Amino acid sequence: MSLNLGRTQFGDIANTGNVLTKEQAAELFNSWVLNPKLKIHMQQVGHLMKCWAAEKELLDEAGQWKWEMAGLLHDADWDQWPDLHCKKIIEELEQRKIDPEIIRAIASHGHMHFGVEPVTNMDKMLYAFDELSGLIHAYSLMRPGGYEGMDSKGVKKRLKEKSFAANVSREDIQDACNRANIQLDELIAFIIPRQATVTG
Ligand SMILES: [Fe+2]
Repeated sequence: MSLNLGRTQFGDIANTGNVLTKEQAAELFNSWVLNPKLKIHMQQVGHLMKCWAAEKELLDEAGQWKWEMAGLLHDADWDQWPDLHCKKIIEELEQRKIDPEIIRAIASHGHMHFGVEPVTNMDKMLYAFDELSGLIHAYSLMRPGGYEGMDSKGVKKRLKEKSFAANVSREDIQDACNRANIQLDELIAFIIPRQATVTG
């Protein structure tokens, strides 16, 4: 089964600036995503995207929400429609006339699967946060103190253990760091304290 989207253009430039309200996004999130683990993952990635937009891209609140929305909804169709993963949420957001930048970021969060290269900073950071955030959360669940006292050394150890969170692609994480031009240590250090605030 291929999840390749077969296209690289998404949304309509005329819809630039259009977003869902927080209530609309929450409604879509809650009706499409039923798995509590997936919910936490999507909320964590949404939060990391928002923090990055605010702290590194220095975007205003509207800009931050665009980044957060991309993170929050990137896996919205994974739970109920795995065969249509990415396609369904993209079409939904296109139908709702959402900003193409957000749709593009979602479409490129797994370029090996969907065939869409991450190009913008938003694309690249969503791709970079996705897998690493999941591995760090899995690591927190096996530590007695959770996120407390976690450091990047421990995370890198887990990354080297192939059997730990084996479904998390180490190649994707390295590829994402290269594309976003960010050191792995820096990315891990950014994620830990921010993600620690979103544990469901
Ligand atoms: Fe994800």
